[in-house]
Amino acid sequence: MPINRRDLLRGAAAAGMLGAAWPLSDALTPAQAEAAARDLGVRWDEAPFTLGVASGDPLPDSVILWTRLAPEPLAEEQSLPDTVEVDWVVARDRELRRVVCSGTVAATAGQAHSVHVPVHGLEPGGRYYYSFRALGRRSRIGRTRTAPVGPVPRVRFASANCQAFHDGFYAAHRGIARENLDFVVHLGDYIYEHGQVGGTPVRDHEGPEVLTLPDYRRRHALYKGDPSLRAAHAAHPWYLTWDDHEVVNDYSGTTPSLRARRAAAYQAWFEHLPVRDGTPAAPRIHQRRQWGDLLELSILDLRQYRSEQNLPGGTILGAEQKAWLYDNLDDAGDSWHCWVNSIMLSRLAKPDGGYYFTDQWDGFVSERREVLTRVHDAGLRDLVVITGDWHSAFVDDIRPDFDEPDTPVIGTEFTAHSVTSGAYSAEWNAENGPVMGAANPHLKYFEGNRYGYDVYEVTPHRWSTHMRVIGDRAHANSPVRTLTTFHVDRGTPGSHEDPATAGSPAQYRRR
Ligand SMILES: [Fe+2]
Repeated sequence: MPINRRDLLRGAAAAGMLGAAWPLSDALTPAQAEAAARDLGVRWDEAPFTLGVASGDPLPDSVILWTRLAPEPLAEEQSLPDTVEVDWVVARDRELRRVVCSGTVAATAGQAHSVHVPVHGLEPGGRYYYSFRALGRRSRIGRTRTAPVGPVPRVRFASANCQAFHDGFYAAHRGIARENLDFVVHLGDYIYEHGQVGGTPVRDHEGPEVLTLPDYRRRHALYKGDPSLRAAHAAHPWYLTWDDHEVVNDYSGTTPSLRARRAAAYQAWFEHLPVRDGTPAAPRIHQRRQWGDLLELSILDLRQYRSEQNLPGGTILGAEQKAWLYDNLDDAGDSWHCWVNSIMLSRLAKPDGGYYFTDQWDGFVSERREVLTRVHDAGLRDLVVITGDWHSAFVDDIRPDFDEPDTPVIGTEFTAHSVTSGAYSAEWNAENGPVMGAANPHLKYFEGNRYGYDVYEVTPHRWSTHMRVIGDRAHANSPVRTLTTFHVDRGTPGSHEDPATAGSPAQYRRR
């Protein structure tokens, strides 16, 4: 049986390597700490830039550059002055010789010594390299690019979602780092807030459930300890949305008991990612972004503004975001339209008529019908929705009303495998794949036995979704291969699987 991270942690604790001293701190000898970190697949960059670098939210003339000074990634407080000056530089070349701009920014303790630099005045569709300097040290060099304008022959991007640290190594992010991509989209569950789930509680060095700002900061720092995640950030600019586990499972609203925890979780998320807009307490996630004339992204925030699920008149978008989405529909251009969507949009009904999960759009059925009817009435064509959360891959036809199978197909939803987060058992998948297919005539494909990420290759005539899967999440260097590819042809609603891979293993495939 392959060893997983939790086994490694337990083994390390039993061997006396970690004990109460975890995080890797002064109670361990340097050699012990190094050995423990190596066994866990945790290896930070050199201090103070332990958590690496990242870039995000590419616009035609701008990207956000991010880093955080954290000499002791898992310590509650950093041994740093309240304010540290951080120099940044952007260049055209990998050696940072052809500098195009540079500056200095203050990293302050109030935001965990994170920095977010909005760099402006860049060329559209340009490739850039960047780095930071502070406390006499230089960070690694990151690579980024700006969005193009005008005609674009092709875009290639990847999505990742659901990366529970305790469930495995980020071989999927290693794959993403090596892909030739324009950008990456994260679909949520970047961290998990819980500790051990199920079974009798055992000491788990990922720690118990996180609740406070220092807790959430440490959890983010732990996740960034996986070198493959840092490599994926350093290789490409990212757009981001989030799901529930950045705060707590299936949350909604701002009840008094949740308010403080949510604020802490939002702030830690903001501090650890290349986010442009809003405030740490209320990041602005829903954004419309263009990749030239080829692709429009509507990045959705399905957590911050939602009501409770299963309410008459409930909302998953909130009034302001829904109005924004409708504005996007009303002046949509002639391009592919991609909704960056954290949780499944398509109906997933059980044979008895109930739903599998109502934390997804199935808990907001009247708003879903309203929004998709609006898509249909607006005459929007070429809608592709990309989704995470399910820890399994699905392909669905989107209809204005999923309960009316005779309504036209108005788009396609691709739900991607998770990076590591545990899926259902092979037995559950084998039994329930055909059951889900029979109860949902719009469902075309289901595969739940694998982990990985999706790569989307988009031209003016065709959208192709390549499902990349890893061999084994217990191995940091597990190889990546393509399980199957689905295509959507421009102007023709619905998807079709590539004949070359249509014989690959799956637990449901509509023939
Ligand atoms: Fe998840």
